[in-house]
Amino acid sequence: MELNSEVLGLTFQPPLILASGILDQTAESMERVVQEGMGGVVTKSIGIEPREGHPNPTVVELETGLLNAMGLPNPGIECYTKELKELKSRVKDTPIIGSVFASNTEDFILLAEKMILNGADAVELNLSCPHAEGYGASIASDLELMDEVIHEVKNSINRPVLAKLPPSGEIDEKAKVAEESGADAIVCVNTVRAMAINFETRSPILGNRIGGYSGKGIKPIGLRCVYEVYETVDIPIIGCGGVTTGRDALEYMLAGASALQLGTAIKYRGVETPKKITDEMASLMKKEDLSNLKEIIGKAHQLR
Ligand SMILES: Cc1cc2nc3c(=O)[nH]c(=O)nc-3n(C[C@H](O)[C@H](O)[C@H](O)COP(=O)(O)O)c2cc1C
Repeated sequence: MELNSEVLGLTFQPPLILASGILDQTAESMERVVQEGMGGVVTKSIGIEPREGHPNPTVVELETGLLNAMGLPNPGIECYTKELKELKSRVKDTPIIGSVFASNTEDFILLAEKMILNGADAVELNLSCPHAEGYGASIASDLELMDEVIHEVKNSINRPVLAKLPPSGEIDEKAKVAEESGADAIVCVNTVRAMAINFETRSPILGNRIGGYSGKGIKPIGLRCVYEVYETVDIPIIGCGGVTTGRDALEYMLAGASALQLGTAIKYRGVETPKKITDEMASLMKKEDLSNLKEIIGKAHQLR
């Protein structure tokens, strides 16, 4: 059975990619995930300078997923390039996607160039973090700025550029702009802006008050975003948001995703999650007499 996906000239085997922000601070942790069957890796989102992130608590566990307001903590690009080089030497055949965030075009270019120079095969632009003022989602909500960032990064690195979009606003409109600006793929979606309140203390739980919701609970939102974007753009879509089982992965493919990113599922199903999901995909496909993922991608659009 063919459980691989060719996207952006890269082979993801299986089409499961570690999402940014989960187990991706060190080369060792990313290698471990690859050893457990992940077909690709996205690094932690990295900025120009080291950044501590938001005050604690930064994560709240909910019944249907996680709420986080990490605030993009990272060691800065100079320091992170060591991890990247190390990772490249450890996982030679697995595509590495460098995730970057910035508040202006020049910084995005610099970060993207350093990612490629130090071993990334492609760059993911984090245009969608819902809890970092001046970064992330505020870039995608300014369509002119987003256009400039994507266009200039694409011109400067000449490698695949992925635009990671937020599930807020008109995502199909944003995806169209990203495609016209030169993005090679759309990643749908980042976390959903959300919060938790403690009744006893009468106050928001997260240090930052507002955070991003991920995991099972956001799967219908991610699916809807992929479905709408598939109807709007011709470039590949990478689905992300609550993918926890093989069935979830195949549903995202029916909506139009060519590959999937996994984050929160790893917390609930362990580091072996990619192997488990791959086995579940294979057995579901066998049951339905399907031998190739191409028979599935986008098919939910034809059956209306
Ligand atoms: C603890 C945590 C940290 C995250 N950090 C980042 C990040 O640095 N950059 C980014 O683009 N997305 C980040 N995300 C969002 C994930 O990459 C993903 O888009 C989101 O969690 C939805 O996928 P999931 O439901 O499979 O986790 C983070 C998510 C979590 C839970």
